[in-house]
Amino acid sequence: MLTTQQVATCDIVVFGGTGDLAMRKLIPSLYLRDRDGQLSSESRIIAVSRAGLDAAGYRDKVAAELPHFLPADTFDKQTIEEFLTRLHHVTLDVTSTEPWEEFAGLLSTDPDRVRVYYLASAPKLFGAICERLQRNGLVTPQSRVVLEKPIGTDLASARQINDEVGAVFSEEQIFRIDHYLGKETVQNLLVLRFANTLLEPLWRSASVDHVQITVSETVGVGNRIGYYDGSGALRDMVQNHMLQLLCLVAMEAPNHYDRDSVRDEKLKVLQALKPLTGHDVIRNTVRGQYSAGAVDGKSVPGYAEELDGDSSTTETYVALKAEVANWRWAGVPFYLRTGKRLDRRASEIVVQFKEIPHSIFPGIEDGVIPPNRLVIRLQPDEAVCLHLVTKAPGPGGLRMREVPLNLSFAETFDERLPDAYERLLMDVVRGNPLLFMRRDEVEAAWEWAEPILTAWEDSQTAPKRYASGSHGPAAATALIERDGRTWNDEE
Ligand code: BG6
Repeated sequence: MLTTQQVATCDIVVFGGTGDLAMRKLIPSLYLRDRDGQLSSESRIIAVSRAGLDAAGYRDKVAAELPHFLPADTFDKQTIEEFLTRLHHVTLDVTSTEPWEEFAGLLSTDPDRVRVYYLASAPKLFGAICERLQRNGLVTPQSRVVLEKPIGTDLASARQINDEVGAVFSEEQIFRIDHYLGKETVQNLLVLRFANTLLEPLWRSASVDHVQITVSETVGVGNRIGYYDGSGALRDMVQNHMLQLLCLVAMEAPNHYDRDSVRDEKLKVLQALKPLTGHDVIRNTVRGQYSAGAVDGKSVPGYAEELDGDSSTTETYVALKAEVANWRWAGVPFYLRTGKRLDRRASEIVVQFKEIPHSIFPGIEDGVIPPNRLVIRLQPDEAVCLHLVTKAPGPGGLRMREVPLNLSFAETFDERLPDAYERLLMDVVRGNPLLFMRRDEVEAAWEWAEPILTAWEDSQTAPKRYASGSHGPAAATALIERDGRTWNDEE
């Protein structure tokens, strides 16, 4: 049984409270936490938007949309009705200089409670919102601010946002969210590595051949094209989610499971990433863009058509080869790939171990026995799977078969796996930033990612096209095969 502890009474203010993220993730996650008794009866959720709604209008909107975003077995009409009474709405234009009287009045009823300002709005507004919160006297010692990614579009803009927000909130009050860190299987990676002794001696270049990190999506960019076209897969996925996964795989054991020990170790990995610049970028990265095709048997348009025929060099796919230049990992390639409109939805980390040094089995040559692989599947069907070679049963010679030793979360545990936002939102209220990105991490990630964007721009080449519903561009297959390796594309 999942045990939950009630968190302190709080006001959770969501800027962008009628937007996609709020309706799809934040409000449903808060509902689920409420359902499990984690929110005190006085806690409130205050949506801020330009929608011109009153509390009743917002409650109607949430009541209509919530069931679409909740697992059917968590939908409970009575709990929803109680949850709706927590909801408030304030209409604000965050760019206006008008005093925020209504909003300040609503918050003033209990100035000592924990206040969470969740900025689910355009990052260019982060600084302005914080400045106005301060000007209106709304930043209390118990306040925290949550910044949704992307934080900036390059190093300079990330620094600027960090400076502007940092002028109002202290670093301890700033929670830079990367929802991948809230995923159960991602947290499990730390447990797997540091609560077991088995893996540690093997977790290094002496035993590991290479690491693959894949986040493959079947969805296209859909109605987010306005944001996405100015971003692309490197900024949207690699600079944050994928580098965070890489950090958790590659980091040294932190001294303690606490906010700074863990984040210090992740930072060291980011700082150890070998810079990719100029020609290295061309050789070690592939960017692609989906064209028309079929996903799950349904015809879908290409990216350019979704942009109404406008040509764009925004990448919807990236594959790259990275290196962590330190004692543990020198010479071990980390292959990363992510893309939209691919043939399958799968996020996984594969740690592939080295081949056996010599085959003792008659008739079985060196290089034929498949090397061991540890596959950590983040989604769907969360699992940790160790592929070992065993003897296939039966007489008539010695045959071998690769067999998975499968720890499936669904089969092993009865509990529902909570959504990442459920965990992370409660961590914000508790004031625990361990699973959030510190300023130096975000900036180190940009420092590594930005030269890739620059080299692509300088190359004046277009992303490689790949058909929707395919594996991605052929060049991504070539990127890994040229090293004598293959992507793990097993279902
Ligand atoms: C978001 C990206 O951060 O993560 C999206 O902006 C992407 O483009 C999403 O689709 C993927 O998250 P998940 O949890 O569905 O893997």
